Amino acid sequence: MVKVAIVGATGYAGAELVRILSGHPLVNLTLLTSRRYAGRKFHDIYPSMTGFVDLTLKEYAAQDMCDSAEVVFMALPHKLPMKLVPELIDKGKKVIDLSADFRFENIETYEQHYQPHTAPATVGKAVYGLSEIFADKIRKSVLVGNPGCYPTSVLLPVIPVIAGNLVKVDSIIADSKSGVSGAGRAASLTSHYCQVNESFKAYKITSHRHNPEMEEVLAKTTGHTCTVTFVPHLVPMSRGMLSTIYCELSTGVGDAAIRTCLENTYADHPFVRICPDGMVPDTLNVKGTNFCDIGFSVDKRANRLVLIAAIDNLVKGAAGQAVQNMNLMCGFDVTAGLLTTPYPL
Ligand SMILES: NC(=O)c1ccc[n+]([C@@H]2O[C@H](COP(=O)([O-])OP(=O)(O)OC[C@H]3O[C@@H](n4cnc5c(N)ncnc54)[C@H](OP(=O)(O)O)[C@@H]3O)[C@@H](O)[C@H]2O)c1
Repeated sequence: MVKVAIVGATGYAGAELVRILSGHPLVNLTLLTSRRYAGRKFHDIYPSMTGFVDLTLKEYAAQDMCDSAEVVFMALPHKLPMKLVPELIDKGKKVIDLSADFRFENIETYEQHYQPHTAPATVGKAVYGLSEIFADKIRKSVLVGNPGCYPTSVLLPVIPVIAGNLVKVDSIIADSKSGVSGAGRAASLTSHYCQVNESFKAYKITSHRHNPEMEEVLAKTTGHTCTVTFVPHLVPMSRGMLSTIYCELSTGVGDAAIRTCLENTYADHPFVRICPDGMVPDTLNVKGTNFCDIGFSVDKRANRLVLIAAIDNLVKGAAGQAVQNMNLMCGFDVTAGLLTTPYPL
């Protein structure tokens, strides 16, 4: 058993971590932090968890954290984790950070899109937590920068076809749609009910912070400088994410080569499911699960590959992948605590 703490446990990603980890057979949840709800039971804030988690929320205190946990999940907004993580790493803790603070190898890129980095020395200790692609490095790491939800849904289908030279690298278009929980729990004008119900809109067109994250990881994994035109959309559902990615095919590439490439890449990875011919990924089929379903279609007339990936933004896009990374870091079976049966509808 490993002792685990969650910082920011009452946010959407933090609460999803509590849900998953409370059912993990090798985890003892010892500490949950919250500023706003310190002193209250977690199940007072999320009544669905009554009978599953009896912990009282506490304010963050470094010493308490170090005494209580061997593994710490950070589910805070960007900028905060980089203030807390160095001390935890120095004290020998394993940390999985869900924010962007430790996702970038290139600090200049981070600073260009976020803010000045206050823990640059710790960045070099971090491994990017795209579990299927970086498993070997994650197993040996003490700090994981857990990927963004959009990059997870784009990189898992795209990396194999670029690495296999099956598509051109300079004309990739990623058109992604996210449920509203992707914006977190705090109320805002852009995410309240009347703004999103029965509405569908693009936002941050070509300027979303997940765009440089995708391009850095593509360069690192494929050896190519890739250009991705990324357009995120908000759809009126609570959770779920669907990315449709358009790539120009390399000469002579057809259905069989794409299928072989995707199936071979993910043959030993239980959380990536390549859809059979004629089946299209659907957020309904991955809701509440750690699966990434990938499908594709070859448009011979336009010489284009259309890849489609569906994930649950809070699970494979956040808390589930974070637990998958903890399993790797702790030497557990990668599926431990994560193989919940999907909802049929
Ligand atoms: N939502 C997703 O789908 C998703 C996907 C991938 C990654 N992530 C990442 O996961 C992290 C958490 O995201 P989230 O969606 O769970 O956000 P959220 O719902 O807004 O939760 C963040 C929590 O952090 C706590 N917090 C502590 N100090 C804070 C401060 N100074 N300012 C604001 N909040 C503070 C807040 O709880 P208290 O006030 O109770 O302390 C808040 O509930 C973010 O870095 C996000 O980028 C989220």
